[in-house]
Amino acid sequence: MEPLNICVMGLGYIGLPTASLLATKGCQVRGVDVKPDVIDTINAGKIHIVEPDLDALVHSAVSSGRLTASLEPGPAEIFIVAVPTPFTEGHKPDVSYVRAATTALAAHLQPDNLIILESTSPIGTTELMAEIIRTERPDLVHGDTLAVHVAHCPERVMPGQILQEIVENDRIVGGLTTEATEKASAFYRGFVNGLVLSTDCRTAEMAKLTENSYRDTNIAFANELSIICHKLGIDVWELIKLANHHPRVNILRPGPGVGGHCLAVDPWFIVAAAPEEARLIRQARVVNEGKVDWVVERVLERASRLKTPVIGCMGLAYKPDIDDLRESPALAVTRRLKEALPDAEILACEPNLESFDEFPLAKLDEVLKRADIIVGLVSHRSFRNLARNHLEGKMVIDTCGVFL
Ligand SMILES: NC(=O)c1ccc[n+]([C@@H]2O[C@H](COP(=O)([O-])OP(=O)(O)OC[C@H]3O[C@@H](n4cnc5c(N)ncnc54)[C@H](O)[C@@H]3O)[C@@H](O)[C@H]2O)c1
Repeated sequence: MEPLNICVMGLGYIGLPTASLLATKGCQVRGVDVKPDVIDTINAGKIHIVEPDLDALVHSAVSSGRLTASLEPGPAEIFIVAVPTPFTEGHKPDVSYVRAATTALAAHLQPDNLIILESTSPIGTTELMAEIIRTERPDLVHGDTLAVHVAHCPERVMPGQILQEIVENDRIVGGLTTEATEKASAFYRGFVNGLVLSTDCRTAEMAKLTENSYRDTNIAFANELSIICHKLGIDVWELIKLANHHPRVNILRPGPGVGGHCLAVDPWFIVAAAPEEARLIRQARVVNEGKVDWVVERVLERASRLKTPVIGCMGLAYKPDIDDLRESPALAVTRRLKEALPDAEILACEPNLESFDEFPLAKLDEVLKRADIIVGLVSHRSFRNLARNHLEGKMVIDTCGVFL
């Protein structure tokens, strides 16, 4: 690819792999973050997040002199924004990080620069960035035209496979103008092997939110089914297996809810934008969040049969074989049990974490030895591989099919 000058705003799971990849492709990259410790770590050629092979890539990018980290943005031909887009209390999107990053980079813009928003964003955020630039830099406004180009290209990588997917995945690029779309698409074609698909910025924003809402809604169907089957005395796992033999049915797996900072967050951006219309998408969130309450109720009912119950919570992460606890329903269940049962012993086992700040973790052996009730919360490999005789004589509540 062309040896461009690039400034990447936000050096987390998305920004740091992107910045280091572009540096190793010959671009001169300034990575910007608001956290001084992140800047120091990266400038030392090290990393502050866990992602396979990222340490070697960052080390190579920094030692080549093509990646430098800084607290301040500087002049560049292309600016990439990869800052957080969480939601506030009440499930309203929080675009304050995008606002702050855009304001900071605006001071360094020159005519014909390209600004690309990669953060998962509520509809209208790309237009909001252009508005901020118009306000901050009236010298770049000529009538209705802005002398710089603004586009959105949502990131769709999966943690654990970021370095591979950042290059291989298809990308959707939507510019504020056709020229912005073309310029941004040409940039991604320089380093992406997947297809680069062009659209407008609002459609690109909605595409990313739609992908995550689609999965959330499908998991909600499985979660609701598991509650109905429990009531009717039907084994949900057998039912799903049978139903999936239909050539056009593919029901996903139920669990204790839905976690992570994407699926559990992004559908709310659609609901916030169209509260009257997004009835199914909202209801899917309600079903998935409510699954935690349902699991807790089931455990409490079992625990009420014992004088001093010992309860083993198997897994805290939001999905199998990772250590990420963001929005994790398994952690929510464990916390709720600890609150509801102060006299019980709750043994939380998370084999992907060495330790946890909030409460001590129990080893798998100890849980198997001591627990009266085993709650399967995450389908981690070490739980899946357990010999079933370890569970004999215990009450087992398997929310995610880990002990099938
Ligand atoms: N992590 C993923 O798997 C993933 C996948 C697809 C999309 N996304 C989206 O990408 C965006 C970034 O996610 P992430 O996981 O990289 O977040 P992250 O929290 O790992 O990293 C964001 C970084 O931005 C920094 N930051 C905050 N405000 C800043 C500012 N004004 N200027 C410069 N830096 C600033 C933070 O200090 C942090 O280091 C989010 O919108 C997220 O939803 C993430």
